[in-house]
Amino acid sequence: MTEAEVLRRTEIEGGYLLTLEREDFSRIYPGMVRYTVRVRSGGKTRAAFRTNTYEYTPGMPLDARESARETFEEWARELAADPGAFIGARQPPPRVGSAIPVTDVLVIQGSPRAGGNCSIMADLAASAAREADRTAQVIFPDDLYIRPCIGCYWCYNFAQCTFDDDMEGVIAAIRGARLIVVCTPVYTDTVPAALKMVIDRCQAYHAERALFGGPEGQTGLLLAVAGRTGEENFRCVRTVVRDFFRNLGIGPCGEVLAGGMDRARDVRTLPGIERRVRAAVTACLKSDGGETAIATLSGLPPAKEYMVGQAHHCSMVDREKQVALMARVEDLFNLTDADQVREIERKLTEFGFVEKGADPAAIAMEHADLELFIEIELDEEGRVHGYELLPFDELAKKQERFRW
Ligand SMILES: Cc1cc2nc3c(=O)[nH]c(=O)nc-3n(C[C@H](O)[C@H](O)[C@H](O)COP(=O)(O)O)c2cc1C
Repeated sequence: MTEAEVLRRTEIEGGYLLTLEREDFSRIYPGMVRYTVRVRSGGKTRAAFRTNTYEYTPGMPLDARESARETFEEWARELAADPGAFIGARQPPPRVGSAIPVTDVLVIQGSPRAGGNCSIMADLAASAAREADRTAQVIFPDDLYIRPCIGCYWCYNFAQCTFDDDMEGVIAAIRGARLIVVCTPVYTDTVPAALKMVIDRCQAYHAERALFGGPEGQTGLLLAVAGRTGEENFRCVRTVVRDFFRNLGIGPCGEVLAGGMDRARDVRTLPGIERRVRAAVTACLKSDGGETAIATLSGLPPAKEYMVGQAHHCSMVDREKQVALMARVEDLFNLTDADQVREIERKLTEFGFVEKGADPAAIAMEHADLELFIEIELDEEGRVHGYELLPFDELAKKQERFRW
């Protein structure tokens, strides 16, 4: 906390002390300064006016210092004339806001479409949280009364937004949650408008944290769906949501991205999606808020990097050797306990498989010469839940079917 520098002070009859203070807030934003005009009596603040340099646009004929100085002089006159009336007139009105309960897991479901793919993913996340003995709720920005941020920077005065609407409850719910899940569709490359309003209005929470600090160890999970196929469709949404988390000291800890909804229509048709959402929630709840980077990607096999190149499809693979290796892999899974994941991975590496990607729900490996792909599915304890072993050509057919 920076010390306030007292620029002016005057004592007023009746035991009142009027001060004009200046605080350097450049630790929050470059060049930011906050001025406070304060009336004290009996060791308590009776009235306060605050303004900061970021409130003033280039086109305004006034600046923060001047505004604070004028207020100081006006208050000195009014206080001297009738202290009782002055203090009574300056009590802040009670905030109305809205009460949103605080739960361990808060799912912010950004799609305006009820019962759509985001709703399905949001419900999966909430139920995974409840199964892990955590309280959880899903909130819908589209159903809330929230005004867009007007960039007034007033929130850096009293750590409160100038608007008194449902955002007060949303901020309380974010402040109190252990895990914040943002579930969003891709709308014109970014998040839908109502979710963006929530994100921007969290500026007031950023101000609160900058002024008074906030909870630590919170984690954030992104669940996103897109109409089109391909990881690049999520680029902007990922950036927006990561920035949102980082601005609020929330450690981004996982992602489940489900693409291709224009064709698939229903996210539940993506094999493994439920398992992935559940695994991501469980992993984020276990994480201490550090970056654990669970990059769980759309469809299953989930990631582009799991996909095999076209060149493989016309190669002359030795089918006999391929079948023999498939049999060895089958034996390996039959003979090894489900909790021996590392041992299975080691053996597969010995057989010539190379890891292509991993997250808490699955490990993907590929044998380039014998054109085999394997995905080992993991349960929530990290044990083998199942596996899928496919020659590249079958994998390609499957990918075509699901349009990954
Ligand atoms: C206004 C609007 C804009 C969209 N923009 C994109 C886009 O830029 N990229 C994309 O892949 N899908 C886009 N979509 C498709 C949605 O992401 C997709 O339909 C998704 O499943 C919607 O989520 P929901 O089922 O939860 O409502 C858009 C849909 C709408 C309605």
